[in-house]
Amino acid sequence: MLDTVNVDYSTQIPNNVGLVEDRTVLRALEGWHPGYIDWWKDMGPTGFQEALVYLRTAVSVDPKGWAKFGYVKMPEYRWGVLLAPQEEGRKVNFGKHKGEPAWQDVPGEYRAMLRRLIVIQGDTEPASVEQQRHLGATAPSLYDMRNLFQVNVEEGRHLWAMVYLLHKYFGRDGREEADELLRRRSGDADSPRMLGAFNEKTPDWLSFFMFTFFTDRDGKMQLESLAQSGFDPLSRTCRFMLTEEAHHMFVGETGVGRTIQRTCEAMKAAGIDDPNDIAKVRALGVIDLPTVQKKLNLHYSLTLDLFGAEISTNSANFFNAGLKGRFQETKIDDDHELTNAAYPVLKLVNGQIVKVDEPALTALNMRLRDDYSEDCARGVERWNKIIEKEGVKFRLELPHVAFNRKIGEFRDVEITPKGVIVSPAEWTKMRDQYLPSAADGAFIESLMKPVLEPGKYASWIAAPKVGIDNKPGDFEYVQIAA
Ligand SMILES: [Fe+2]
Ligand SMILES: [Fe+2]
Repeated sequence: MLDTVNVDYSTQIPNNVGLVEDRTVLRALEGWHPGYIDWWKDMGPTGFQEALVYLRTAVSVDPKGWAKFGYVKMPEYRWGVLLAPQEEGRKVNFGKHKGEPAWQDVPGEYRAMLRRLIVIQGDTEPASVEQQRHLGATAPSLYDMRNLFQVNVEEGRHLWAMVYLLHKYFGRDGREEADELLRRRSGDADSPRMLGAFNEKTPDWLSFFMFTFFTDRDGKMQLESLAQSGFDPLSRTCRFMLTEEAHHMFVGETGVGRTIQRTCEAMKAAGIDDPNDIAKVRALGVIDLPTVQKKLNLHYSLTLDLFGAEISTNSANFFNAGLKGRFQETKIDDDHELTNAAYPVLKLVNGQIVKVDEPALTALNMRLRDDYSEDCARGVERWNKIIEKEGVKFRLELPHVAFNRKIGEFRDVEITPKGVIVSPAEWTKMRDQYLPSAADGAFIESLMKPVLEPGKYASWIAAPKVGIDNKPGDFEYVQIAA
């Protein structure tokens, strides 16, 4: 009988979907594998392909114990296909098919829509690996380097997860899409990744931490809503991906947290009370809090664009069809069809930002984005607790959702982080107060010196409170000279 909890390592591609018996799909994936490895060596972490990295690998999809830790050379990582166990009698839980049994195969009428959803999700996974590929060289510690590589190999696995669905359920066009996922490149002029934030640079470690806090959290929201899908294999795939995603956001939240911790400690030790005395704070070799705020402004606003336009018929169609639900759909107390419901949306009306009730179905992007913002705000408050505890008078905050937007209602106007509309000329004058300037970037870059001694950390970041897998403080998370 097929064991759907423990992972089968007997095939080249570890899996819990019975690939041994599914020869056609196994062969298709084996055919895709060499191209993937070429992509990894080409576009994955630069310079550390031979290093031994202390990584977790999934051995089961049991939430109570799904991973084992051990040293692995990244190109030898066992990227597998893992789906959460099938739920007996699961149903489509929303939209016009509500109450029907969940689909185990692609419903013909929704084939194109489903493929598009899977390809868009799939495209983000290798993109972030490409964006982060140069960071190993400036890692502030072996602990952080290991976390970076863990996130990278798991984004690689998420690509495998989507490619499995394409190969298994979409035949020839699925195979073509799977090949395209290896062909596009983040930031490439001719064939960029599909979404804007995944074509931006991740130039330094503070950007990496902000990215994993804000952008991986968008990933979480998208996966949460795809986990609601009536197409059961997609739902099961996304449910397991969410288990891994939690660590990515942990890396982001604690990375920023340790950065501001170190800044506050250094300020206190030097007797600096004014967090805005940037020159003095920077002289201590730490990142001043106003600059942390600017980085936050940038990554939050870039990530909001990933939710798409506030009003979207696509998202209404995905919902109606039962393909993509809302965040925690089954816990929401309503009819799950939304035929007559309304939802408040921020819009630009006669030059003013106002709240307007819109049909809830077309406002689903907005709703997911609101849920996302709330989740972000809670994380920012945890950062503020760190600052407060150190006795520094400064608060980080999320900028207004209309700030620095390239997609949706506010794309053509300039708006400050407080939500005030300003003229383009005023914006040009103020821009560097709100977003990282070239000088801010240069300063941060000047701090990005690798620290490779076990248990040691760069000047600008505090040590973590606990090690990965409960390892001691001086554990050698990456053996570089392997
Ligand atoms: Fe991912
Ligand atoms: Fe992630």
